[in-house]
Amino acid sequence: MKVLVIGAGNMGLTYAEGMAKSPYLNRRNLMIYDVSPEKTLELREIPNFDVYDKIDDCLPKADVVFIAVKPYHSEELFNSIKKHVNESQLFISLMAGITINTIQEGLGIKKVVRAMPNLPAKVGLGMTSFTESKEVSRIELIMVRNLLDTTGEAIHVQNENFINASTGISGSGPAYVFYFMQSMMEAALKMGFSQNDSKILVTQTFEGAVALFNDSDLSPNAWMDMVASKGGTTRAALDSMEDNNVKELIKEAAYAAFDRATELGK
Ligand SMILES: NC(=O)c1ccc[n+]([C@@H]2O[C@H](COP(=O)([O-])OP(=O)(O)OC[C@H]3O[C@@H](n4cnc5c(N)ncnc54)[C@H](OP(=O)(O)O)[C@@H]3O)[C@@H](O)[C@H]2O)c1
Repeated sequence: MKVLVIGAGNMGLTYAEGMAKSPYLNRRNLMIYDVSPEKTLELREIPNFDVYDKIDDCLPKADVVFIAVKPYHSEELFNSIKKHVNESQLFISLMAGITINTIQEGLGIKKVVRAMPNLPAKVGLGMTSFTESKEVSRIELIMVRNLLDTTGEAIHVQNENFINASTGISGSGPAYVFYFMQSMMEAALKMGFSQNDSKILVTQTFEGAVALFNDSDLSPNAWMDMVASKGGTTRAALDSMEDNNVKELIKEAAYAAFDRATELGK
């Protein structure tokens, strides 16, 4: 199996590097293509994959093609590569908001997987959800999962509505965590800690809480009850959050991202 990644930006390179390290592919089977001559020149320094600056040299050889360009470049890309694609190729799109139907029509092909990754893929802790057109076989889907898993975890979802929904949870989610971290760091600074100590206090608290959570079967609510004793400090903080409706506001924010993803797909 030969894999081509189109677009060597944040996501394209992350996936190419993830797949290069996996046991499923070796260097000879991994190709990457980008329109930018400067970028392809830089990429040639990396020994993990074959770098191309002409689409007709690489696309016809590929069995699986990742599309990792920005959504607003999709139409231009489809027009420029359409004549080089064939029906047996499987396309995996990472583009937010571009529907399977749009890709099928834009490229004149049938086999499309739409995936929604997130930024922690860069450090091997990504969360990707994916769904497929009906022409993709079960065996191809297993292979797709193996490829997507190379950057972290991947879950299969029933349809594209869940891709938009996962945009609201895991796709945009790292920014919600950064928002929470920023707020706690600002509180620490205000209490008089240095920038460096504020950063350590907050990051270690996040890492520790996630590790504890992963190490047990307890729900977040159960953990909160364990940490917060009646009349204590943690209870005071949680009560303040409840009084200010923080949980509902976070849910509303996730829905805002979900709605925006749905709107972009129209
Ligand atoms: N970054 C994320 O956290 C994230 C999360 C979820 C989904 N995604 C999706 O992942 C996709 C890629 O995002 P990104 O952040 O990796 O974008 P990016 O860093 O801008 O990378 C896209 C790359 O594709 C190149 N390109 C543009 N048009 C091309 C064409 N016709 N043929 C080949 N290469 C072309 C761009 O070159 P130029 O710079 O010269 O234009 C750039 O190098 C997007 O569709 C986005 O919706 C990203």
